[in-house]
Amino acid sequence: MPVTTLVSAKSCGVTTTALALTLASKRSSLLAECDPAGGTIRAGLLGGQVNAGVGLYHLARAERTGPEALAHAFASHLWHLDQAGHRKLLPGLTDPAQAAALARTWPALADVLHVMAQQAGHDVVIDGGRLALEAGHLHPTLTPAPLLYRADLVLLVVRGTEQSLALARHVIPPLRTELTERGSGADALGLLLIEDGTFRAHQVSAALGTPVIAALPYAPDVAHYLTAGGHPPRGYGRSPLLRYARTAAEQIEAAAARRQLQQQYPPAAPQLAGILQRLNQQHADGGVKHG
Ligand SMILES: Nc1ncnc2c1ncn2[C@@H]1O[C@H](COP(=O)(O)OP(=O)(O)OP(=O)(O)O)[C@@H](O)[C@H]1O
Ligand SMILES: [Mg+2]
Repeated sequence: MPVTTLVSAKSCGVTTTALALTLASKRSSLLAECDPAGGTIRAGLLGGQVNAGVGLYHLARAERTGPEALAHAFASHLWHLDQAGHRKLLPGLTDPAQAAALARTWPALADVLHVMAQQAGHDVVIDGGRLALEAGHLHPTLTPAPLLYRADLVLLVVRGTEQSLALARHVIPPLRTELTERGSGADALGLLLIEDGTFRAHQVSAALGTPVIAALPYAPDVAHYLTAGGHPPRGYGRSPLLRYARTAAEQIEAAAARRQLQQQYPPAAPQLAGILQRLNQQHADGGVKHG
């Protein structure tokens, strides 16, 4: 199962999307709310049920003791979003000032999240918040940079509006460079489109030179419930946002699997890739001719 980090150029639906993916996934799922600017799920969807004694901040001290202490602390700071415990949340920071303490915790937390994905079979979604860049690099305390470097996929959440694309355009080149130089490669980067505005997925891909891996509908009522809590709107469980989020989780898993396969077969055989591409092209053009 993949570890996917969601980020934005500017607040456009990362937390809501992360919640929708986590709640709609067909498999067990885990949302780690790692936005250094602070978590919003505790006061939002959870309506203040979870106090400051639970959550991400407490992992910093445990990490200083060692990996075993971190693993125990991690397990004890998870909040169940459903009764069966299939959907788990690591609630985020209650104060942005706590972010500095986490700077050295991110790499060890990345290890824990990969174990949750690979060995415990969870879809892991990380809310990485809004990107902060400094001199072309991810900011060391205002972004959870190691959680981007180590993710199977990094999805930049964008809306199909001119404003959203204008801001996204500027963060993509440095993000790609960062993933190439310090992460698992520029191809880890994809887009998750919220269908607000006039630009369709293929236009967004073309405009930003980055593939749209999945799309979610613009659905203010259900999004508002996921953001602010309260009573779920009518038809919430069957709502388009959750249905598409289920499909999106599948598309994310498929994209991560494709990427893994490509990494197992790196372009060490460009000739072979060329031959296969030509064969595929022949099939597309009407099949291979025999005799
Ligand atoms: N698919 C959607 N359809 C309609 N509105 C949405 C959708 N997703 C998010 N929103 C709305 O957009 C606003 C911002 O959402 P959210 O808090 O998830 O963004 P964010 O990127 O996490 O912001 P921040 O960087 O401030 O944490 C909220 O009002 C939310 O309800
Ligand atoms: Mg958020």
